[in-house]
Amino acid sequence: MDDYIRYIGGVVGIAAVTGAAAITSSFLFSSKSRPLLPPVDPNNQSEEELGEDCVRRSRLCPNGEWISCIHKDVKTLYDILYRGFKVSDNGLCMGWRKSREEGYRWTNYSEAIQRCRRLASGLVHFGVKPGPSTCIGIYAQNSVEWVLCEQACYHQSMVIIPLYDTLGLYACTFIINQAEINTIICDTEEKVITLLNESSKTTTLKQIVVFHPVSEDTKTKAKNSGIRLLLLKDVEEAGKANPIESNPPKPTDLAVVCYTSGTTGNPKGVMLTHGQIIANVSAVMHQLGEQAPNSSDIMLSFLPLAHMFERCCEIGIFIGGGRIGFYMGDIRKLPDDMEALKPTVLPVVPRLLNRIYDKVQSSTNGSRLRRWLLNLAISRKQAEINRHILRHNSIWDHIVFRQIRNGLGGQVRLMVIGSAPVDANVLSFMRCALGCLIIEGYGQTECVAPCTLTLNGDAVAGHVGPPLPCCSIKLVDVPEMEYFAADGYGEVCVKGLSVCSGYLKDQEKTDEIIDRDGWLHTGDIGMWLP
Ligand SMILES: *[C@@H]1O[C@H](CO)[C@@H](O)[C@H](O)[C@H]1NC(C)=O
Ligand SMILES: *[C@@H]1O[C@H](CO)[C@@H](O)[C@H](O)[C@H]1NC(C)=O
Ligand SMILES: *[C@@H]1O[C@H](CO)[C@@H](O)[C@H](O)[C@H]1NC(C)=O
Ligand SMILES: *[C@@H]1O[C@H](CO)[C@@H](O)[C@H](O)[C@H]1NC(C)=O
Ligand SMILES: *[C@@H]1O[C@H](CO)[C@@H](O)[C@H](O)[C@H]1NC(C)=O
Ligand SMILES: *[C@@H]1O[C@H](CO)[C@@H](O)[C@H](O)[C@H]1NC(C)=O
Repeated sequence: MDDYIRYIGGVVGIAAVTGAAAITSSFLFSSKSRPLLPPVDPNNQSEEELGEDCVRRSRLCPNGEWISCIHKDVKTLYDILYRGFKVSDNGLCMGWRKSREEGYRWTNYSEAIQRCRRLASGLVHFGVKPGPSTCIGIYAQNSVEWVLCEQACYHQSMVIIPLYDTLGLYACTFIINQAEINTIICDTEEKVITLLNESSKTTTLKQIVVFHPVSEDTKTKAKNSGIRLLLLKDVEEAGKANPIESNPPKPTDLAVVCYTSGTTGNPKGVMLTHGQIIANVSAVMHQLGEQAPNSSDIMLSFLPLAHMFERCCEIGIFIGGGRIGFYMGDIRKLPDDMEALKPTVLPVVPRLLNRIYDKVQSSTNGSRLRRWLLNLAISRKQAEINRHILRHNSIWDHIVFRQIRNGLGGQVRLMVIGSAPVDANVLSFMRCALGCLIIEGYGQTECVAPCTLTLNGDAVAGHVGPPLPCCSIKLVDVPEMEYFAADGYGEVCVKGLSVCSGYLKDQEKTDEIIDRDGWLHTGDIGMWLP
């Protein structure tokens, strides 16, 4: 990440001075873009529900109803590749590259679907039981194979459970046992060895599928541990030779169990159904309107797929028929991946934006001229943004901001910020610098990912937007902290189509967060803004 920031930051100062000479009058008269008007009045973003005190929902709910899906042919995660195939006319689907020297190589939707079908048949051939009572572990970095294996599971209604390093070994073993995982799919030999090392502590693990060939030592180790080791290629071949019919899930079937490692106690597995995830993504796409991902979009995938935020973004891209390029797996080479892929859609976390912001700010240290120019550029762009004009062809972009935009590949039109709150100054700065639509969501795994999302064209930073049109939000008194709903403060509670079904095999913890009326208590304090 640091290399990345070094690359993007620091350039603004240089650009500011050298670029100043390049001012030409044509920029001064360049035509203004069409404004991107918010879909509802930004001073009036949500409405109180009839007959319900202090419960609010989006003004974008069609006929006041929550959205469960926006396309009749997309009711489960199984449907998304088929939808992408149709709307993109079998366009490119997923891309990868192994080194800086290579260009991206792509698979199209029909190839991806065929491989999913084969993998699904292959898994069943190797003894995996179809249906939503089977949980498959996926323990890998973002890659084409990750998504293919995920989709393969959905082709036989199986449930995926992402495993990731930061859970820790104890938690991984706990999860394998609690969810009774027989089969884990992983990417590297190192992960295979980690799992084999732990296998004596699990009673259920029977086989491991690995993406790439492993050494003889590891094969022997697996044999000695009584675990069957399969290559992904072999599963695919077996599926090709023994094809079976797809067995798609129902919207009410479980799709994924997302474990979060708490600071204390055992990890908790959030159960999410196909319908809940589709409701969430559909609500986001509905709110985005014309700006929703479509078949011209390219997304760079580098945030962990194990988290719902990244997965929701990818689901949106597939529904729109766009394509996803994966990073090489090394965060330090991200600038290179951006340059090679030129993404139009970019999911990010605030940390990345903070680094860019800090770097740009400190690059003007020691030069009053640069600082003055930067501040002037920001105030001029902000004035345009306040009039809902988003563009990256103004004079200020040419002299000051262009390098920042180019550092992200130069084509980003939609940036989605998730996972943590972004500072209002940083968000406003990025909106000025990139001249693209930047939206921020608030949420947690328990409600799929976001339950609120800022509106297109809303120029004001420092808030998280109205409830998404798939859920309602209320604030509840927290007397011990002196927050009262009547004053517009309180614990954020969410109810709706995207709220999870609880924690896997943990009724006690489920009852702690979801009350009898179906409200999810997030533990976060919120405040209604006018
Ligand atoms: C907000 O918008 C609704 C219509 O969507 C309107 O009825 C209401 O009066 C508006 N409230 C304010 C404070 O502007
Ligand atoms: C895309 O799909 C077609 C089949 O519909 C296939 O013949 C072609 O080779 C595929 N691959 C690429 C990269 O276009
Ligand atoms: C697996 O266990 C061996 C021996 O106990 C140890 O040397 C090795 O570092 C472990 N490997 C991993 C990846 O945990
Ligand atoms: C996709 O959406 C963008 C932004 O709204 C638009 O400029 C572009 O023309 C759209 N492409 C297609 C194929 O609809
Ligand atoms: C100058 O840069 C340093 C870090 O590089 C930063 O801590 C400091 O606040 C900056 N000064 C100004 C005036 O921005
Ligand atoms: C839906 O997904 C978004 C991100 O894609 C996430 O921020 C949000 O919390 C999710 N939940 C709900 C209720 O929509």
